[in-house]
Amino acid sequence: MKDEADQYEQRWARYLNVTHSKLLASLPAGAAPRSILDLGCGTGLLLTKLRQHYPDAQLTGVDRSGAMLDQARQRLPQATFIETDLARLHLNPRQYDLIVSSSVFHFVDVALVLSQITPALDPNGWLVVVDYSGESWFRAVGWLYDHFLEAQQALSRRQLARQLTAAGLTVEHQQQFRWRWYLLQVVTAQPASPNRHYP
Ligand SMILES: C[S@@+](CC[C@H](N)C(=O)[O-])C[C@H]1O[C@@H](n2cnc3c(N)ncnc32)[C@H](O)[C@@H]1O
Repeated sequence: MKDEADQYEQRWARYLNVTHSKLLASLPAGAAPRSILDLGCGTGLLLTKLRQHYPDAQLTGVDRSGAMLDQARQRLPQATFIETDLARLHLNPRQYDLIVSSSVFHFVDVALVLSQITPALDPNGWLVVVDYSGESWFRAVGWLYDHFLEAQQALSRRQLARQLTAAGLTVEHQQQFRWRWYLLQVVTAQPASPNRHYP
């Protein structure tokens, strides 16, 4: 696992550049988060980029891989890192202004993770997620998932939007994009406000 962590950024450099750029471009204009949580932060590369946008924010990363977190800790000694499975995450209510996740949701039970993180989001906070998009034609190449992506599932745009709504979030922006043969999506959501109307 340590070797994988060592080679991760080099091997996936272009992919990480594209996915992180999409996520950063989807950050709400004018947002000034004081506390940021990265779900499945890996080597901490995305947190490093977020620090450039929000230099005063407190950064927290969660990942189940100790080898990935070793690199993240070296890179961001002032940040907090939690080594745990996202299914076992225990967070304080309204703890974060911004929760992000990049290329992780296909590994996890999204409904379970959302049920844990939504209460931890400030009522004016934001969730921004980038991940594979499981649209039907892409799902058809299932062997790619099994043999290359090692994915548990990849939600379609509609499925992810439904999960977010069911968890008490409002989808503000959702966009699908491609990189090479990958189909991806980025979504921005906020806690639902009692004043908003939902169909
Ligand atoms: C493809 S990497 C993405 C890393 C990082 N988000 C990025 O964009 O560079 C997926 C990461 O999710 C972590 N991960 C996968 N499933 C997880 C789970 N159930 N709980 C915590 N971390 C998980 C892996 O250890 C790995 O670091």
